[in-house]
Amino acid sequence: MISHPSFEVEPWCLRESSLHLDVLEQSESVFALSNGHVGWRGNLDEGEPHGLPGSYLNGVHEVHPLPYAEAGYGFPESGQTVINVTNGKIIRLFVDDEPFDVRYGRLRSHERVLDLRGGFLRRTCEWTSPAGTTVRVRSTRLISLTQRSVAAVAYEVEPLDAKVRIVVQSELVANEQLPETTGDPRVSAVLESPLLPEEHYAHGMRMRLLHCTRHSGLRVGVAADHIVQGPSSTQCASESSAHIGRLTVTSELEPGETLRLEKFVAYGWSGVRSRPAVRDQAEAALAGARSTGWQGLLDEQRGYLDEFWARADVEIDGDEEIQQAVRFALFHVLQAGARAEQRAIPSKGLTGSGYDGHSFWDTEGFVLPLLTHNAPHAVADALRWRQSTLPAARDRARQLGLKGAAFPWRTIDGSECSGYWPAGTAAFHVNADIAYAVTRYVAVTDDEEFERETGVELLVETARLWHSLGHHDTHGRFHIDGVTGPDEYSAIANDNLYTNLLAQLNLRAAANAVERHEKQGAALGVDEEETAAWRDAAEAITLPYNSTLHVHEQSAGFTRHQMWDFARTRADQYPLMLHFPYFDLYRKQVVKQADLVFAMFLRGDAFDEEQKARNFEYYEPLTVRDSSLSACVQGVIAAEVGHLKLAYDYLSEAALMDLYDLENNTRDGLHIASLAGTWLTLVAGFGGMRHRDGTLCFTPRLPDRLRRLAFTVHVRGQLLRVEITGSSATYSLLEGGPLEIQHCGQSVTVSDKGPQTRPLSPVTTRPAPQQPPGRRPRRRE
Ligand code: BGC
Repeated sequence: MISHPSFEVEPWCLRESSLHLDVLEQSESVFALSNGHVGWRGNLDEGEPHGLPGSYLNGVHEVHPLPYAEAGYGFPESGQTVINVTNGKIIRLFVDDEPFDVRYGRLRSHERVLDLRGGFLRRTCEWTSPAGTTVRVRSTRLISLTQRSVAAVAYEVEPLDAKVRIVVQSELVANEQLPETTGDPRVSAVLESPLLPEEHYAHGMRMRLLHCTRHSGLRVGVAADHIVQGPSSTQCASESSAHIGRLTVTSELEPGETLRLEKFVAYGWSGVRSRPAVRDQAEAALAGARSTGWQGLLDEQRGYLDEFWARADVEIDGDEEIQQAVRFALFHVLQAGARAEQRAIPSKGLTGSGYDGHSFWDTEGFVLPLLTHNAPHAVADALRWRQSTLPAARDRARQLGLKGAAFPWRTIDGSECSGYWPAGTAAFHVNADIAYAVTRYVAVTDDEEFERETGVELLVETARLWHSLGHHDTHGRFHIDGVTGPDEYSAIANDNLYTNLLAQLNLRAAANAVERHEKQGAALGVDEEETAAWRDAAEAITLPYNSTLHVHEQSAGFTRHQMWDFARTRADQYPLMLHFPYFDLYRKQVVKQADLVFAMFLRGDAFDEEQKARNFEYYEPLTVRDSSLSACVQGVIAAEVGHLKLAYDYLSEAALMDLYDLENNTRDGLHIASLAGTWLTLVAGFGGMRHRDGTLCFTPRLPDRLRRLAFTVHVRGQLLRVEITGSSATYSLLEGGPLEIQHCGQSVTVSDKGPQTRPLSPVTTRPAPQQPPGRRPRRRE
């Protein structure tokens, strides 16, 4: 955990005013830049010291055998792991004859600033070499949001007290040596030098490297060009070899003189294109970047982000640190998804290699809700990626003896990579999460073309899966047995309520979509009999309820299980999965992460107010939050049922997950779902925003700590601003025609004639529920 105050509290940037090598690997994740296509961790320009060097291209991975002590039918045979591609960010510096290395000499000052409006990382430092020469180094780095293959660095060095001989080496480095991250030698082996050389080139200020992966058959090209400005003594020379492209710049600088280097880097990759094609792809992107120029790239970045913030900013009065954390969260979620363009959005974005770079339900469950209202094009693309993986999902369903499509629990290219079937194969809810994301996106955007071309197929194939996975009992009830819901401490359970409620929505949505798009339905072979069967199953779905306790059951029989012995579980035994066998977790009442509570958020229509409150109070003392995906969801429902202080504590946990490294693994990459969840807790929790029959409904309420909360949501081409204070909510239409919404159950028409202000409804307060001992979220107040 980052225990010292690492970042100063400022509204629009994240400033680290001195370098802490003990938390370097965390800060590399926090300062990562990405556009969803290219990602660079916040490694120091000179490459060393580093926690984990990281340059990623979304989708570029290596495959390796998946080990099983006892293999079984249908176990995936091969795993996929994101690889560290050619590093284009390295700029090494020699001062007289000393390498600039912060571990030696004296680092007089060191500041890094992640600018959330400008979309760049700026570093400024002053260093005295062991020989006593002092220089100032300034670098600014960006990954372009407007030119998706492009990254760029501006690097400046100046002597501060005496004349100095400077050598700068700007490099492209493939197959960097990485710290060992996995105990499995087979995995380490493929990751050790994943790139085989195909071509290298250097001439003048330019260089290029082409590589391919050994087993996954992907080709990666990276090209760089430079502009160098310095005194007349400045000379440049370039060279390349199989794994290195290098421009060496030498110069003699007097105090007051500066050597400046602008580096433009462009990536291209493909699983099908030829060597010349990938080479040309990288060169073309580079030409584009060169013609835009450094200042042009900065200006474009600012323009892109100005537009994003105008649609997506969340303003908070009353807690400056959370204000900063929320913008940090929004920025990173945007970075993860903005230009992913029909590739997966990994659970760590492109900020680290945690979870092997895999995507999970995190995307549809957490990231897409935010993007649906703030960057809807990215949602359509993320779901088109799912559609493009339908062949693999259909094959997987066949392999499992099921119909339709079974999307993978974790993957890079669309095929299942989970080697642990109880929490992989059995976690079928990912299919309903995808379907839910489709319906939400269509309801919010009215994107008919998307529904026709993509939505219908995703809904139909997932509905088919549910219909074949479930069965009607002799009384006609429809059950889905032997599945794992979001709570991974209960596996292979019958009638998981979350799964059943989302499957119900999925079955109905598919039947409705086919009615709207008969042609597409017919092309997929859907007939009336099939849609009738889906509707029957949806009507008859089982929703387990314990009528003695008056609470819903997370799955059939859950409330009958023995309670986990929380009193005898020590604080250092969390997360439980690292200290107790799964079989014991599975048979007791203990919840890893919001499951039934999540169902109450996504399917609030299936519960009345009293049930929500009782369910929340029942499951709170069982929920240990061993997953970062939990706090934000608990925060949403805590706010809904009136535990506003608790909701605020959960908001803080979600928002500060990475800034405080709360799970001790930010080094592996950021928790993108939790960051997106921050927005959910604010907008769906304190804003009380829900979709009901195509209408946006708000039940706003603020915790004492907040004086004001304001946010903007995009809905059907219109832009609605919501501003909440302790006593009222004001709705204004920033773009588009009149919009019908609901405020605390009452209809409100918002138009360009002016804002509408309504008083807040009183909140029924209840005694705060307890969490398991030692698992209470940190009090924010
Ligand atoms: C959670 C999953 C999640 C995965 C990736 C696990 O710890 O239990 O729900 O999808 O992490 O974030």
